[in-house]
Amino acid sequence: MGDAVAALLSDALVALPTETVYGLAGDAMSPAAVTRIFATKGRPSTHPVIVHLPGIELVPNWTDAAPAWAMALAAEIWPGPLTVIVPRGPNVLDAVSGGQSTVGLRVPSHPLTLQVLNEFGGGLAAPSANRYGHVSPTTAQHVLDELGDVLDPMRDLVLDGGRCPVGVESTIVGAWDDTPRLLRAGAVTLGQIAEITGREVSTATDGVRAPGSTAAHYAPRARVIPIETADLDKTVATVTGAFGLIAPADLAPPEAHHIRLASPRDDADYAHALYAALREADEAQLDVVIAVLPTDVGVGHAVRDRLLRAAATGQVTS
Ligand code: TXA
Ligand code: MG
Repeated sequence: MGDAVAALLSDALVALPTETVYGLAGDAMSPAAVTRIFATKGRPSTHPVIVHLPGIELVPNWTDAAPAWAMALAAEIWPGPLTVIVPRGPNVLDAVSGGQSTVGLRVPSHPLTLQVLNEFGGGLAAPSANRYGHVSPTTAQHVLDELGDVLDPMRDLVLDGGRCPVGVESTIVGAWDDTPRLLRAGAVTLGQIAEITGREVSTATDGVRAPGSTAAHYAPRARVIPIETADLDKTVATVTGAFGLIAPADLAPPEAHHIRLASPRDDADYAHALYAALREADEAQLDVVIAVLPTDVGVGHAVRDRLLRAAATGQVTS
């Protein structure tokens, strides 16, 4: 723990577990640390990064114009899988905001990372700890697989906090005016946001720059084919050779030759297992992953969102 804080204070990077996915953290007030985060991920400088805080009481250091509804929402959910995008305060580095007039803030709930944040006492910029365009890591080993050869072994650290309990990235809510905008689906649902804020939640993303949520990403090398349960046999018949299958535990595997990548028991289990399953598909050098979509409720909505993005062809971006 002390080592991690000392590393962060000397502008080194620390990969840390959060309840959602592993993050690659650096001092959000240090231009040198933030520059290294972008270089290490191979991420374009126009993509803003989320600032992780030890507690809601530090929010005024990062914004002086957060809407009251957004702070009420944060107070209810934090520590937890929610990021609010609020107007940026005067001290926020341009690199953290990606040149925009806003900053993303979140208090994560993983105990190890909360301890680091509390001891560090400030904000940690932390995107997901994967190379730009790859699937987010949900174990320390995934982080090493992604970044082991680009982190500096003399300075940087990877903290192992076990497998991330949620498994998909935080819900992102745009909070710069009276309207909550759902910019990225996650474990905190649209229904919860509406209920807590008492406001209608917009899902329109036109005119909003949230780079990682527009173009296709979250994709493995394998081609992902998301399907509804009823289409399983029909889809399997169209695939030649071995394929990977993600399907509910109670769904019997089809006859064809396949590797069962995950057998989620419910939507939360699906989210928890998803990214490890996609990584396994690439390790097994599968060309195709057939994924039976979960129901569109709760975190199942976020899982569907990621699978549909992974399936979208075109530019890979975050
Ligand atoms: O669960 C998570 O949010 C994880 C963990 C590590 O906290 N972090 C994460 O960070 O997923 P990242 O950078 O991989 O994805 C954050 C997304 C990016 O698509 C980024 O463009 C968007 O949030 N974002 C961050 N700050 C923003 C801002 N000020 N305005 C618009 N979009 C923003
Ligand atoms: Mg990411």
